[in-house]
Amino acid sequence: MTTPLRILPDRLVENLERAKYRYAVTYQNLPHYYTVAKDWADYNDEVSKELNWTVWEMRKHDVMRPFAGWEQHYLDVNGFSYWTMVPRNEETILINRQYSTHGAYDSPFDAIAHRYDDSDEYWKKVKAEREVLYAPAAPSGRVLDVGCGTGLLVDYCYRQIDRERYVGIDPSAGMLAKFALKHPDYKADATLLRTTFEDYETPLRFDTIVAMAGSASHVTGVDVVEKARHLLAPGGRAYLTFYRDPASAFERMGIEAPALAAAPDGAVEDGEYVVVEFGREAG
Ligand SMILES: C[S@@+](CC[C@H](N)C(=O)[O-])C[C@H]1O[C@@H](n2cnc3c(N)ncnc32)[C@H](O)[C@@H]1O
Repeated sequence: MTTPLRILPDRLVENLERAKYRYAVTYQNLPHYYTVAKDWADYNDEVSKELNWTVWEMRKHDVMRPFAGWEQHYLDVNGFSYWTMVPRNEETILINRQYSTHGAYDSPFDAIAHRYDDSDEYWKKVKAEREVLYAPAAPSGRVLDVGCGTGLLVDYCYRQIDRERYVGIDPSAGMLAKFALKHPDYKADATLLRTTFEDYETPLRFDTIVAMAGSASHVTGVDVVEKARHLLAPGGRAYLTFYRDPASAFERMGIEAPALAAAPDGAVEDGEYVVVEFGREAG
């Protein structure tokens, strides 16, 4: 069964991201933040019409998940989970948010992030292999690096990438922390985002979208090709890699393989990976 591509209105994403949040000091065992109507710019007569609109719009796209013994509705956007405290058919003046912890965010890559870049092989051999691996990514213009990990694409294509127009997304806080340590010049918020591709929402359209070293296999909640197509700018190009042999890839990395997506029809074998490459017509 394929999951339809989720396209959230920009207004909803902007409202959720720009709202003013306060820490819920009475819930230390569930650290989260909340925003209330009186913090919204249009607050008048005890209500914010914009917050109201946001709540009803959230509900059109949310998902149910178990929470402390009951089912709670959540909207997951750009690494945050948002929810309200009342049943879905009731008005509310409050929206909660916390860092996402569901599914893909409990990442097995956190545990190996510190050693992910290392290799027992002679460094010149590793360098040569990685140059071959990352060269076909050919990043140019505005770049989206799906499952950017520790930033090996940036290491090996440093001169080709414009830091101001690069976005790296990954659900693993550990992998992103390593990336940020290696490249303090890439630390800006809009540049490295802790989010899955499934939960990523942006008004940006990209000239290059890549998923390197098997990252595309990790996108299970949405059709990765369809979403990449949606996010390509006219004239843009996507280069998505899937594991050819997941069992040996994960044995090499020393972690258990999570649920993985199959490579789509038409994917072409290239060494350890299976690659899908496509473009969007200019203008
Ligand atoms: C094998 S690593 C590849 C990292 C990097 N692209 C590279 O070239 O080294 C796979 C990466 O995909 C990330 N990942 C896992 N689930 C993902 C998802 N749903 N969306 C985006 N990235 C995901 C992992 O956290 C991990 O960093």
